Amino acid sequence: MDFSLSEEHIMIRDAAREFAQTELLPGVIERDIKQEFPDALVRKMANLGFMGIMVDPKYGGSGMDAISYVLIMEELSKIDASASVIVSVNNSLVCYGIEAYGTEAQKEKYLTKLATGESIGAFCLSEPEAGSDATSQKTTAIDKGDHYIINGTKNWITSGGRADVYLVIAQTDRHKGSHGINAFIVEKGTEGFHTGPKEDKLGIRGSDTHTLQFNDVKVPKENRIGDDGFGFRFAMKTLSGGRIGIAAQALGIAQGAYELALKYSKERKAFGTEICNHQAIAFKLADMHTEIAAARHLVMKAAWDKDQGNNYDMSSAMAKLYASKVAMEHTVEAVQIHGGNGFVKEYHVERLMRDAKITQIYEGTSEIQKIVISRSIIRD
Ligand code: CAA
Repeated sequence: MDFSLSEEHIMIRDAAREFAQTELLPGVIERDIKQEFPDALVRKMANLGFMGIMVDPKYGGSGMDAISYVLIMEELSKIDASASVIVSVNNSLVCYGIEAYGTEAQKEKYLTKLATGESIGAFCLSEPEAGSDATSQKTTAIDKGDHYIINGTKNWITSGGRADVYLVIAQTDRHKGSHGINAFIVEKGTEGFHTGPKEDKLGIRGSDTHTLQFNDVKVPKENRIGDDGFGFRFAMKTLSGGRIGIAAQALGIAQGAYELALKYSKERKAFGTEICNHQAIAFKLADMHTEIAAARHLVMKAAWDKDQGNNYDMSSAMAKLYASKVAMEHTVEAVQIHGGNGFVKEYHVERLMRDAKITQIYEGTSEIQKIVISRSIIRD
């Protein structure tokens, strides 16, 4: 057992922390208000290797481990969860999906650009009637010999308008259920592929979320990922890694709110003393500190499982379930500690509270994580 970070991990964490403080913090409130996608910042994150953190350097990636990935995600998310979700989806859903299950040709054509940030990736599973119930795909991909024809609608797609490469999950044979689903790489600009209006969201407003429409979109057969019928398992395996990223995002949001609340409580005076000296506030800080530490252990354990080659379906679900609960509860507490100022944008905690909510919803709701965890413990 060793709970300490290596020198290399500390350097990676500090680089991400420095970047978040100097580059993400200025303008984060304005980007939230204007729902502005951080184009220039994505390029800077790409230059630091954050768009292909775990990708093999031979495909343009940084070749780091999953522990490094969660350290970077936590630091970015403390300041700007809109920027961090772009990083998370690109890394653990799109890059990982192609690197782990794509062909050599797919990796050469798409992965290198995604890992270097020249392209941005999106993961398209959710539909108007298939969110949690992901096997009920209505989008169809009909086999036409050397190509497929895709028709359907995808909802709530992160980086939906900005992406260049889309991993699209679709039903190829309804009678085969989850075994009749495939995943395809679809390029932006393919005829019949349309992006709907940007969603006006409660939180992570700087990220770019869209509905996508596929009308007779022709996709070459070589763009299918894996064997015929692998698409649902592909989505589940990829999402297990994605959930580590979102758990780290939730952890960062919680830690960011906690740090702001602690600082504020040491400055703000009431009844003749700094408010941290009142037990009502001190106990809130104690709960935050304890539960955030517990969330961090779960997040690190899930990342460690991935690095060790262990199965991480359950540990990633546990990390996401708990870290997102901690993020939601303690961002509310951080607003409470700030009192009236907590309700004002310039104090940041109201944004962190709004951003926290999505971590209990995307990449599998908390209820879905409980399904994954309970099925694992009952099966084992
Ligand atoms: N690895 C490998 N195979 C898996 C698997 C995994 N982790 N999970 C399931 N499977 C297999 C099962 O073994 C089963 O195979 P067999 O038929 O051969 O036995 C098959 O897949 C079907 O599995 P289930 O019977 O368990 O399917 P289900 O209909 O009960 O659904 C579920 C399971 C866990 C609820 C799943 O539907 C799920 O995870 N839903 C949530 C989807 C989700 O997370 N969506 C997020 C959207 S993406 C997003 O948010 C991205 C973004 O932009 C931020």
